Amino acid sequence: MNILVTGGAGYVGSHAVKALVEAGHIITVVDLLSNGRRKALPSAIKLAKLDLRNAVALGKVFKENNFDAVLHFASLIEAGESMKNPSLFFDNNLNCLRCVLDAMAKHGVNKIIFSSSAGVYGEPKTIPISEEAEKNPTSVYGETKLIMEKMLYWYDRIYGIKSISLRYFNAAGADESGEIGEDHRPETHLIPLVLQTALGQLSEVKIFGTDYNTPDGTCIRDYVHVTDLATAHVLALGSLSEEMRTTAYNVGSECGYSVKQVIETARKVTRREIKVVSHARRPGDSAVLVASSAKIKNELGWRPKYFSLEKIIDTAWKWHSSHPNGYGT
Ligand code: UFG
Repeated sequence: MNILVTGGAGYVGSHAVKALVEAGHIITVVDLLSNGRRKALPSAIKLAKLDLRNAVALGKVFKENNFDAVLHFASLIEAGESMKNPSLFFDNNLNCLRCVLDAMAKHGVNKIIFSSSAGVYGEPKTIPISEEAEKNPTSVYGETKLIMEKMLYWYDRIYGIKSISLRYFNAAGADESGEIGEDHRPETHLIPLVLQTALGQLSEVKIFGTDYNTPDGTCIRDYVHVTDLATAHVLALGSLSEEMRTTAYNVGSECGYSVKQVIETARKVTRREIKVVSHARRPGDSAVLVASSAKIKNELGWRPKYFSLEKIIDTAWKWHSSHPNGYGT
């Protein structure tokens, strides 16, 4: 298929591009390169550097290519930041998707895979979380993802654009090759910060909250390997093409690890000292987020390859230790 990948130079996007190319698809990436990196993409991949809210420039990309489908990764992703600057998140996340959907409607493209988030659930009442669980986001970031899923519903009803929303839990790890990986600037995610501390680039890891209602008092998350997430996109695209049905899937490993367990596992993998300090809770964080991925396993046959946290951190360590400055400047 001929596919437009928005945000394809980002962390999850670049791993998905690799999986899509391996599956034989033709890819065009649109990325503003504010958070994404050109070096995260093979040099043969076509890249248009533009803001998706620039409808004229985006329209030109659609006109020049006869896309069969869109994978929409482009988004601001930091829940903590969204609680300080809601306007930025509502503007960027909602308007970028709106412009993509308008271009799709105009150019007759009727399939989209959307990067949604476990952030749509907020503080779940039961664990593991199924797709039907109540959705009460605890951050503006999560709220934008929920609104974006609703936008997809209406563009299906009005224009017949079919979508699959993949609700990622905590994307982690790096491609087994060690050639692509996580390089956010600034970095806010736990595993890269822990590994930067192991490398001596940071003096300590702050643990955001040690008084949660969890066995060791720290937040529990479901870390899912980025290559397994990439595979989920390839499967979702195949399924959407066959069934043309708007739906959503959780994508998580179904295992929960606390912040302290992540740090302990990183000490074991890296065999380095990792100093920690307790810190106040970070606004917008839920105590426990662990997926039920039964639906995507049953309906799409998704089978994660990386289910141990140790293996996930091991691939991340391979990337960080061989690329201490990420993709460089
Ligand atoms: N944490 C720390 N110290 C840090 C960074 C993070 O203690 O320096 C804690 C956080 O408070 C949280 C856990 O580590 O409890 C994981 O935090 P991340 O920032 O790595 O990831 P989040 O859980 O905040 O968010 C990620 C994605 C979101 C997605 C969410 C779903 O970035 O897009 O997972 O589970 F919505």
